[in-house]
Amino acid sequence: RKRLVVDCDPGTDDAHAIMMALGNDDVDLVAITTVFGNTNVEQCTQNALRVLRLCDRSEVPVYQGCPVSLLGNPSPSSGFHGKDGMGDVQKEPGGALPSAQKEHAANALLRLAKEFTGELTLVAIGPLTNIALAIQLDPLLHEKIPHLIVMGGNTTGRGNITSTAEFNFYSDPEAAAFVFRCFKGRISLFPLELCQHYAPTTEFNGRVHSLNNPKAAFLTAMFVDVYLDEPSLVVPRFVMYDQAAVAMAISSKIAIETMSVNATVEVTGGKTRGQMVVDWNARNGHPPNVELVTKIDMDLVEALMLAAAN
Ligand code: BDR
Ligand code: CA
Repeated sequence: RKRLVVDCDPGTDDAHAIMMALGNDDVDLVAITTVFGNTNVEQCTQNALRVLRLCDRSEVPVYQGCPVSLLGNPSPSSGFHGKDGMGDVQKEPGGALPSAQKEHAANALLRLAKEFTGELTLVAIGPLTNIALAIQLDPLLHEKIPHLIVMGGNTTGRGNITSTAEFNFYSDPEAAAFVFRCFKGRISLFPLELCQHYAPTTEFNGRVHSLNNPKAAFLTAMFVDVYLDEPSLVVPRFVMYDQAAVAMAISSKIAIETMSVNATVEVTGGKTRGQMVVDWNARNGHPPNVELVTKIDMDLVEALMLAAAN
């Protein structure tokens, strides 16, 4: 079974993505690491633990990571995922929450990468701060991790947090640029526009709802609450970001078309800070460092998204 670590900031779509990893027998979720992002890091950790309790999988260790970006900036979140990061929906029934581990997420990443050298798939679905910090602590970390799957960045310069930047990369542009430099050749990237293009319709929400169990109730409550009220979505849709990255970790068949490109992240731009910059026409003289996913098998992703609620 493929060993997986999910680095996340739950986050409604992060929560669903974690449930997908928990619900699939082809992968072994060895750890969850949390980072600031959709809400503060303490709340993100609580949210991850809440998901584990819901899925009756409290044995999966959760390691809390960075509360702010490498430069010390807090989350720029607009509260899109609710005050608590998971839609402010009524809490699902359940006993006491399990506890997080004492070890810092960056240290846990170092330890796990060493223990499972050459075996880990790391899925990063929040700001890349923990991963950048871990590489600073061990400059050879990335050589021990064969595959990094990232949800983040944008390809058209249209942002979802500023005019030009995607949320995860804007939250910590220095970390994103650094991770791109270090992990070259081993990154599969799911950018914003791809995820928005493939987002399932609200009909999908109905299919989840009709499963009629506590996990389905949790997901539909969360998504209806957050997404259907989002005014920027002209047609209300079931928005999917982080789920696509975890789907790829479960099955590489998800990516039916990819493009090798050289990409970096703008750190100095006045209006474009945090924007991903893709060298489409190979002008900068650097070899490709990222496998940009450009087409996905959405039937397969939806099947995995649905299975997470079973
Ligand atoms: C990303 O930002 C967060 O709000 C989501 O969880 C996702 O990781 C999309 O831009
Ligand atoms: Ca996220």
